[in-house]
Amino acid sequence: MTTISQLSQKTKDLSLQSIQIELKNPNGVQEGYQDFAKELPALSRKRLEKYGIDLSKGYPRRPDHIPIFLDEAYKIRNRPNPNYIERGLNADPEKKALFGAATEVVNLTKYIGTEIVGLQLSDLNEQQLDELALLIAERVVVVFRKQDLSPQKQLEIGEYYGEVEEHPLTGQAKKGITVVWNKFNRGGPLIKFQRGAFAGWHTDLDHEFSPAGITHLHLDSTSETGGDTGFISGYGAFDKLSPSFQKFLEGKVAIHKSAHVYYERDDILSGPKHIEREHPLVVTHPVTGWKSLFVNPAHVVRIKDLEKEESDLVLKYLNEVYAKNLDIQVRVHWQPVKEDEGVSVIWDNRISQHVAISDYNDQWEGPVRHAHRVTSLSTPPVFDPNSKSQREALGWDN
Ligand SMILES: [Fe+2]
Repeated sequence: MTTISQLSQKTKDLSLQSIQIELKNPNGVQEGYQDFAKELPALSRKRLEKYGIDLSKGYPRRPDHIPIFLDEAYKIRNRPNPNYIERGLNADPEKKALFGAATEVVNLTKYIGTEIVGLQLSDLNEQQLDELALLIAERVVVVFRKQDLSPQKQLEIGEYYGEVEEHPLTGQAKKGITVVWNKFNRGGPLIKFQRGAFAGWHTDLDHEFSPAGITHLHLDSTSETGGDTGFISGYGAFDKLSPSFQKFLEGKVAIHKSAHVYYERDDILSGPKHIEREHPLVVTHPVTGWKSLFVNPAHVVRIKDLEKEESDLVLKYLNEVYAKNLDIQVRVHWQPVKEDEGVSVIWDNRISQHVAISDYNDQWEGPVRHAHRVTSLSTPPVFDPNSKSQREALGWDN
């Protein structure tokens, strides 16, 4: 016969077992190499082999230690980077070295996006990289096609722009080179048709102490059609607001959550939780000195010091301002990607939202989308009450 105390012990054992199973895998990921090398798209494999990325143990590799607890996740880069250099501040405002080397410089829309034609990112010297940083700060996103770029060079450029983020969970080609590949990221070719009004606009790594600044996505293989990336200017979103609403928002603080979840060490049963950090809701870009809205629908959970209903209402409106105004958006097509002709898109996460458009699927016939992302972390965002909006600074209303 089972006594009450034996039963209670059994229940405890059972719940401990189930907790342990969950703790092993709070975000559904495992450590070490993953067995996806044989599924690499042909163009990606050629590039990785050409540039000596070792695929013999598998591809890609997750970090050796996957954090499970919130306190350990908070400790990652929980400090300013004393060595950070804002490269765009050292640039020639006319960008003569960069533009002089290009055959063409094409603005994709009036307010956001520029394509540079006829030069290789791998050939840029420091003066040109500084000018590129200024161009990204001004135009938000810059596109380079027909790039023969090694993963190592992509990483080197990222290191020039700041401390390269080494994601504690994602698969990487090398430390700091995050793999963006559905077959691996989603454990299968699972891009689904989305019903409803969900778009997926977000900003990368805005929950970090020093959020993502210049971010470089390089596609070495893509589907024949689809998988475009949309970008929206935070400068433009701020300029869409009335001056008195702008004033209301300036100085407010927003709370940003991480994409991934972790457990409270002393309160595991309260369930997985996000990292949360506070940043100004209106930020001033350190290079341009222009004001930008710094919110996004994926990660910003509330505005500090407002009632929940007020915060929800304001955030909903601000995210609609981003999403509905096509004049402050640009849609980048990645095709065509050919052998030794990958496409690089470089943007600044401090002044933008973006989305990978879900109209491709790795299960369909033909080539598959595979990319490497290198993210340079910046500095904690600040708001300068004396700064101007982009329209104000450039005299667009005069
Ligand atoms: Fe992203």
